[in-house]
Amino acid sequence: MPQMHADPATTGLASASSDAVTLKVTGLRTHFRIGSTIAKAVDDVDLTVRQGKTLAVVGESGSGKSVTSLSIMRLLAPSATIVDGTMAFTRRDGTVVDLARAKNRVMRRIRGQEIAMIFQEPMTSLNPLYTVGDQIIEMIRLHETISRADARARARRMLELVEIASPERRLDDYPHSMSGGMRQRVMIALALACNPFLLIADEPTTALDVTIQAQILELLRRLQKEMGMSILFITHNLGVVAEIADDVAVMYAGKVVEQAPVRALFKAPRHPYTKGLIACIPDPARDRDAAGGRRLLSPIPGSVPSVTNLPGGCAYADRCPLVVAKCREKNPPLIGVEALHSTRCWRHEDV
Ligand SMILES: Nc1ncnc2c1ncn2[C@@H]1O[C@H](COP(=O)(O)OP(=O)(O)O)[C@@H](O)[C@H]1O
Ligand SMILES: [Mg+2]
Repeated sequence: MPQMHADPATTGLASASSDAVTLKVTGLRTHFRIGSTIAKAVDDVDLTVRQGKTLAVVGESGSGKSVTSLSIMRLLAPSATIVDGTMAFTRRDGTVVDLARAKNRVMRRIRGQEIAMIFQEPMTSLNPLYTVGDQIIEMIRLHETISRADARARARRMLELVEIASPERRLDDYPHSMSGGMRQRVMIALALACNPFLLIADEPTTALDVTIQAQILELLRRLQKEMGMSILFITHNLGVVAEIADDVAVMYAGKVVEQAPVRALFKAPRHPYTKGLIACIPDPARDRDAAGGRRLLSPIPGSVPSVTNLPGGCAYADRCPLVVAKCREKNPPLIGVEALHSTRCWRHEDV
């Protein structure tokens, strides 16, 4: 397999092979202007979502995950600008469009129909004034010429698909009469109503309790298998990554610092930040102190630097156990260490 991230020319964007890529983001920079300050929220991000696979983007709060996904959807706040980069999206018909440059008219067609998004808080996308049935029906009819009765039948099947009991009755319910987990299922039904090619899920389970979270992850996995869609899954939880991802991109202060297939990432991380994150995953067997049953977690000391005031070299240098002088002088590029595995660390051989 070619070293995808090291050599973008060999990824075979439009090819229909199992190596086919749905979305390839290269050198994306999205900056905010706040008065006279520039916040480099996303600064040179590379990501590859393989067709039919799940790429998980993981990172602490404020690392630029949501801004990355909103850049892809082109739903950024007016104070944000995509200043550089390409986002090559392979459409259902096999043609490739650069989402960074696509006309608004094209983006409107792509959103919902080819790329759909779900968020952490379903109520930001669900309208409290309409029944869930009407919202799904409206979504279907926005993209397709179909009778209301047929759209309602499809909406009902969508609720069945996301395993909501008594779907016919639930169609006439309002969002506020549903539990958080059920609302998230409705959100997924709404997102999948038009059979998208790529689903972007931004922390879809973060607000849910652990049992419901596991059910939603299981549901997404099943739907992906059935529908063959690609998923960009954003989370700050590396435990969730292990559950859902084929590939992982780790973000830190607006940059992807490591990306790899999920097994390689957990088995042989090549960035000290990834290694630190893995050490923070709660492991009851390891973390329980024999005497008091006290949790001995090992959080990474320090905090993420502000993206309005980034250091010259590697942004992780101040927290990094392996830091050397070079790290503070020069930001490492994304270095290919193995097929599909790359890292932004000068000392990747010593991690
Ligand atoms: N609307 C905004 N205005 C100004 N800066 C913003 C805005 N949204 C995000 N940012 C900046 O972008 C950074 C990354 O934000 P975000 O992508 O939401 O982080 P994450 O989703 O990883 O928690 C924030 O730390 C903040 O500095
Ligand atoms: Mg976010």
